[in-house]
Amino acid sequence: MPTTDLGGTRLHYLDSGSGREVVLLLHAFPLNAGMWARQVAALSPRYRVVAPDYPGLGKSEPRAESSTMDALADDLLTLLGGIRVERAAVVGLSMGGYLAFELYRRLPGLFRALALCDTRPGADTPEGAAGREAFAKSALEKGLHWVADEMTPKLLRPHPDAAAVSTVRALIGQGTPAGVAAAQRGMARRPDSTPTLAAISCPTLVVVGAEDGLTPPAESRKMAAAVKGAKLVEVPGAGHLPNIESPEAYNQALLGFLDGLPQ
Ligand code: MLT
Repeated sequence: MPTTDLGGTRLHYLDSGSGREVVLLLHAFPLNAGMWARQVAALSPRYRVVAPDYPGLGKSEPRAESSTMDALADDLLTLLGGIRVERAAVVGLSMGGYLAFELYRRLPGLFRALALCDTRPGADTPEGAAGREAFAKSALEKGLHWVADEMTPKLLRPHPDAAAVSTVRALIGQGTPAGVAAAQRGMARRPDSTPTLAAISCPTLVVVGAEDGLTPPAESRKMAAAVKGAKLVEVPGAGHLPNIESPEAYNQALLGFLDGLPQ
């Protein structure tokens, strides 16, 4: 995986495929670009696929600051400028969706299309933000094994496949406690993106796992209804990570959307 320098911190990203159109994949917390393995395989014959690891997650180096959506958007714009990407279909899953909202506010012209997957527009409540701070402290004290124990059952459907459990635990294990804490602290400070929904004017797809307990389908239906012309797909047999738990159905929804975009 190549890297780009962000003022002393090295950000790793994946850049594969040879198509003219770019798809930018923004990962969930506390995973990394590796969560997109099945999508990269399906998309790269037709598209150039770019997928970063956020600081301290995957192979990207941690840094001292919180991973606010503002800071991550700065990172991405530096990366995209460096690799000469001016337009992309942006796919954000959960935290990746929070980041996609921020990017949209900054640079709507970047967006050829948007896929919002298992995400929500709202900001945290004060209790939610306090819970993230407690999680950040525990992650720093107790380490990634604890993070995996806490997060894996929330990310997957009830009674998940053993293979999905081990994939998710392995992805979490590739990060750092500092990166997990920075992401939690950054998400706690994210703004309310609800007003952004009405401003989105690019083709938009909303995807949600039918058994997602973190961002339930009812919330995705509401979000899709607030974006002009958005299509909604509910993926059966999946929780919060339909790209991992039901990759065929997820890829079919994503490729059908991307392949149908106006040239
Ligand atoms: C994620 O999957 O990125 C997280 O569940 C997002 C969050 O904690 O709000």
